[in-house]
Amino acid sequence: MATERTLSIIKPDATRRNLTGKINAKFEEAGLRIIAQKRIHLSKAQAGEFYAVHKDRPFYGELCDFMASEPVVVQVLEGEGAIAKNREVMGATNPSEAEAGTIRAEFALSIGENSVHGSDAPETASVEIAYFFSGLELVG
Ligand code: CMP
Repeated sequence: MATERTLSIIKPDATRRNLTGKINAKFEEAGLRIIAQKRIHLSKAQAGEFYAVHKDRPFYGELCDFMASEPVVVQVLEGEGAIAKNREVMGATNPSEAEAGTIRAEFALSIGENSVHGSDAPETASVEIAYFFSGLELVG
């Protein structure tokens, strides 16, 4: 399988509860390397632009308010099949459906406050990484 890069976000419900290290330990234990990382506080407009694909969903306003409520950690994970591996380590979007041992099963509070985001495909990974990082900031 090819080496890939994917965007990961540690969401406000997790940064608030000081879970950044515990969450990143799970990525690293799964063989993913953090090759870029920063802690930022998104504006509602920035959150809205990032999640524009969901703009017609009923939860869009709530999602943007939540993502702009407190700091997030945005990071790039690299590894063999990183996009699928990241999604496996995160678990299902809805924590009540997430497999035991996954980040969302252990830490998420609800489908909205679900602790982490991860890109869902190679095309979205490139766009999402470029939204937050320049090429110079990716140090593999
Ligand atoms: P994420 O992987 O970041 O991608 C879009 C986000 O929308 C998703 O995780 C959830 O946090 C959020 N989301 C999806 N469905 C719902 C829902 N029914 N209610 C609130 N938020 C949702």
